[in-house]
Amino acid sequence: MVQGTANWSTQLNKEWLQEYVDDWVRFYRKHTSAGKVADYIPMLKEANPDHLGITIIGSNGTKIRSGDVDIPFTIQSISKVISFIVACMERGVGYMLDRVDVEPTGEAFNSIMHLEMRQVKKPFNPFVNAGAITVTSMLPGKTSDEKLEPMFQLLEEMLGYRPSLNVDVYESERDSSMRNRAIGYYLLETGFLESDLNITLETYFKQCSIEITVDDLALIGLILANDGADPKTQQEIIPRQVARIAKALMLTCGMYDASGKFATYVGVPAKSGVSGGIIAVAPPRVRDESLPFINGCGIGVFGPSLDEKGNSVAGIRLLRHIASQWDLSIF
Ligand code: DON
Repeated sequence: MVQGTANWSTQLNKEWLQEYVDDWVRFYRKHTSAGKVADYIPMLKEANPDHLGITIIGSNGTKIRSGDVDIPFTIQSISKVISFIVACMERGVGYMLDRVDVEPTGEAFNSIMHLEMRQVKKPFNPFVNAGAITVTSMLPGKTSDEKLEPMFQLLEEMLGYRPSLNVDVYESERDSSMRNRAIGYYLLETGFLESDLNITLETYFKQCSIEITVDDLALIGLILANDGADPKTQQEIIPRQVARIAKALMLTCGMYDASGKFATYVGVPAKSGVSGGIIAVAPPRVRDESLPFINGCGIGVFGPSLDEKGNSVAGIRLLRHIASQWDLSIF
C-alpha cells in the first residue's frame, strides 16, 4: 500500500487515514537502521533506535496516532522555537531581530566556525546553537528557573499541562557539553550575551531537557499552522507576527544544513531535535478540497535513529512520504 497514490477524495474518513498512516509507519520503521542514536550526550545513547511514532492533528480535531506515540522524549533543539517565540513575546520582535539574524548557515547546528570566520555582527539565526544560546541569554530573569518560567507557561497554555524536566538528561548534557561551553565563551567574548554565561548555559541545557511526546509536538504544530491561535477558540496564544517569523525560520533553518533539501522534498516548516523529535507545520491549503487535512495540521514525529545531520532518519522519510501523498507542501 505504501507505493502509489490513493484517491483521497473517497477516503477522507479517519479510519481510512489511520490505516494508511499505520502502513507507512510499519514501512518506514525499517529505515531506522539507516541511522544511529545521538551519542554525544551519554543519556541519549539509551534511546531505542527502532522506535518510530507519529501524531497528526487537524484543525477540525481529527487525530491520527501511529507507532511509538507513548514514549516521552526530550525536546532538545525543538525548544529553540519555543525560546525564540517567548523571547520575542517578552522583549519584542524588533529587539530580538536586531540581535539575532534570520539567515541559514549551511553549517552543523553546533558549528562555531561560521561565527569566527565571517566576523558576524550577530549570530546567524536562533536555531543554531550560537543563536539559541544568545536568545536564551535574552530571556528575562536572573536564575535559570526564572528564565524557563515563561517557556513553561507558554507550553502549559498550548498543551493543557505543564511538562516536566528530565533531570538525568539535563545533568548528562550539563556534564558533557564542552562544545556548547566553547560557543558560550565565544559569545561572551564577542559581547553577544545579555546574561551570565553559566546561568545562560544552565537554562539552555534545561530547556533542551523538557520532556514531551509526539502528541505535544503535533498540538504545538497545529497552533503554529493556525498562525498562533488556539484552533478551537481562535484565541491568540502566540502573536501572529511572531508565529509567522518562527515558521519562516523553521522552513529556512529548522533542519540545520539539511533545511534546503527538507524544503524541497517535504516543503513545510519543521524543526528537529537530536533525541529524534520533529515538529512539522502544515498550513491550510486551498488548491484541492479533496485532500486530507486541507485546513492545516500539526505533525509530531519521534524516531531517535538519526542521519549524519542529526535529524531523525526514518522520521524525515515518513514525513516526505506523507507530504507527497497528501500534497502538504506550501510551494
Ligand atoms: O545543543 C545541544 O547539543 C542539544 N542539547 C540540542 C541539539 C539538538 O537537538 C540539535 N538538533 N538536531
